[in-house]
Amino acid sequence: MSTTAVPATQGRLAFPSNFWWGAATAAYQIEGAVDTDGRTPSIWDTFAAQPGRIDGGDTGATSTGHYRRYREDVRLMAELGLSAYRFSVAWPRIRPAGGAGVNAAGLDFYDRLVDELLAGGVRPVATLYHWDLPQELEDAGGWTNRDTALRFADYAAAVAGRLGDRVAMWNTLNEPWCSAFLGYGTGGHAPGRRGHVGALTATHHLLLAHGLGVAALRAANVAGQVSVALNAGAVRPLTSSAEDADAARRIDGLLNRIFFDPILRGVYPADTIEDTRDLTDWHFVHPGDLPVIAAPLDAICVNYYQPDLVSAAPAGRLDHGTPYPTAQAVQFHPTPGPVTHMGWSVDPTGLRDLLLRIRTDYGDRPIYVTENGAAYDDHVEPDGAVDDPERIGYLRGHLAAVHEAITAGVDLRGYFVWSLLDNFEWAFGFSRRFGLIHVDYATLARTVKASGRWYARAIADNAIDEPRTGDQRAESA
Ligand code: FCB
Repeated sequence: MSTTAVPATQGRLAFPSNFWWGAATAAYQIEGAVDTDGRTPSIWDTFAAQPGRIDGGDTGATSTGHYRRYREDVRLMAELGLSAYRFSVAWPRIRPAGGAGVNAAGLDFYDRLVDELLAGGVRPVATLYHWDLPQELEDAGGWTNRDTALRFADYAAAVAGRLGDRVAMWNTLNEPWCSAFLGYGTGGHAPGRRGHVGALTATHHLLLAHGLGVAALRAANVAGQVSVALNAGAVRPLTSSAEDADAARRIDGLLNRIFFDPILRGVYPADTIEDTRDLTDWHFVHPGDLPVIAAPLDAICVNYYQPDLVSAAPAGRLDHGTPYPTAQAVQFHPTPGPVTHMGWSVDPTGLRDLLLRIRTDYGDRPIYVTENGAAYDDHVEPDGAVDDPERIGYLRGHLAAVHEAITAGVDLRGYFVWSLLDNFEWAFGFSRRFGLIHVDYATLARTVKASGRWYARAIADNAIDEPRTGDQRAESA
């Protein structure tokens, strides 16, 4: 199937007829019920309990209460008209304590969720690993231990055996860059370990887990597409100098190509291996790993938030806190223009460029944008409304960028807003709201925001209004 034929009407951008309009969440960010039905702690329970790790001392212990309220949430999805919902499965619900036993009660929850989604006309898209590693596996070395990749394959097989007949698309991993470079590099994410060698080791074991996970899904004969969600971005040099071009090349290697190349070409980027030579000889890559990692996929999924603007740092101004190994001499710059409540720049051209680049460098293949969205400081007004025009501007601008890529021939089949609901935003706790639906954390009441209604309209029309020049800035300022 090709998605390239997009009818154009004046002022309107129409999407291909079978385009997936989705929204995404992740288990630890929404479920709560951390001790329920046999679940054991993950690295995020442990990390969030440590003082100073999470803004406001927040944890995911209750969060949005989705574990108990999933029926209400699916009803809201159906009201919005979503054609797909991307959720993640919590590993410690399925294989408590990371052990060999399968917890039927954990599988039952996702089984009910999937059936509820299908009954509501919403395609289930399941991510197997959205960062909640069973704590016992971390105690044995976590992602720096090769054995964790093998455990992941066992866990994937258990989930596939139960849900494989009904899930429309699988993501083995969500954003392995964050797991490796924040979890084991800077320590800003769970498990909070610091060290660039650990980050590179974890990267390889995550990639191996992906490959073994693909094999487990194929062995289970799953009906849906098999894929992986990478946080990718356009990396731009600040000036046309050779030094800035080299800074951009180095970061592009450590953000994008270190994942895309092994998965889609079966090799690590030679320049990245060379860049990191002083840190490691990459002995953790065993003969035979790369063909496993490069197992054919049905689609590639990308999560996009903002582009990166980089330069060579002025002499003596090294960034010792960088998550990027051997990139202390690279400086990151704010992109001119509006930013979200995360401080992330609003630049839809970065999404368009990323999509075009994947096609140019990795060939014509089905692509989904499995996360895109923005945090703003939303409030429920006295009349009960949540007005979030900036988020509408953000979504419209980025959907227009998606449309541009489709028109240019990219086989882009779907788009998922991050997020369905306001939720636990990792180290930021509940202080950042990304949802199409507002959550009152005191009462757990849900309120569809204006952006949620706007998105529902877009889904119903299978089209959006073309952004006017300056819209993005006006709506996001
Ligand atoms: C991504 C994560 C997702 C969410 C968004 C804002 O990196 O995959 O869980 O936190 O950022």
